[in-house]
Amino acid sequence: MKIIRLISELRAELEQGRALSKTIGLVPTMGALHSGHISLVERAVAENDITVVSVFVNPTQFNDKNDLKNYPRTLDADCALLESAGVDYVFAPEVEEMYPKPDTRIFSFAPLDTVMEGACRPGHFNGVAQIVSKLFYAVEPDRAYFGEKDFQQLAIIREMVAQLELKLEIVGCPIVRESDGLALSSRNMLLTEEERTRALIISRTLFESLEFAKENTLQATKSFVEEKINAVDGFKLEYFQIVNGRTLQQIDNWDDCDYVVGCIALFCGKIRLIDNIKYKEVK
Ligand code: PAF
Repeated sequence: MKIIRLISELRAELEQGRALSKTIGLVPTMGALHSGHISLVERAVAENDITVVSVFVNPTQFNDKNDLKNYPRTLDADCALLESAGVDYVFAPEVEEMYPKPDTRIFSFAPLDTVMEGACRPGHFNGVAQIVSKLFYAVEPDRAYFGEKDFQQLAIIREMVAQLELKLEIVGCPIVRESDGLALSSRNMLLTEEERTRALIISRTLFESLEFAKENTLQATKSFVEEKINAVDGFKLEYFQIVNGRTLQQIDNWDDCDYVVGCIALFCGKIRLIDNIKYKEVK
């Protein structure tokens, strides 16, 4: 496995593989890797001849300076995990390499980016689109892998690929959970032990709401989740929305569409966590 810092070096390496018609899989990450990331990496390794994992804490997608400062950075441990997962290249550039000058591009993915994370974290998805498009231009992958935990991000990246007319496949991979249900997130390592225990209520409530939804209206299910979460000391709910899984717009009734997802964001102490659950998915 090679660790590469420069786009020019990465391009030169990948050019050799491309000349031999090898397929390239990309897993974009911000590091602090956990089993959720590794599940994406393993899929990329299985489905492609060459796997590139980028590790880059992208400043343009953080709308909170403290969040950027506190974001865990564990490159050595990340590389050890990636090497044993069979990765060929880790691309770990400095900020100056990805942003030699400020990126002034403004994307619009409305209405996908005007709700939920887009409404709570202004500029976040523009920053995600800036870095992910730069990574796509640098790597030119055949496939890129993203987790469904960031459900809205995945929808927006698919839309970006369509808007930019890029020729690659976006592969969405299921949420990976701890055995007790907590959705894996790099931010979990910032939780105190007490907060980690409290955070379990998020997935537990979402799974309970799946059962509740079978006998109740969508509005009642929404209230069920909101009331349970609001009752927990130390939680601050930002939103729980039940949306059309394709348009990400809120719906009123279970029968409004064939893909229904509940998305939640909340602060557990100072740490912001997100999760989601599928109530209905017709493939
Ligand atoms: O999901 C993430 O970790 C980031 O948003 C991504 C896609 C790596 C872009 O920085």
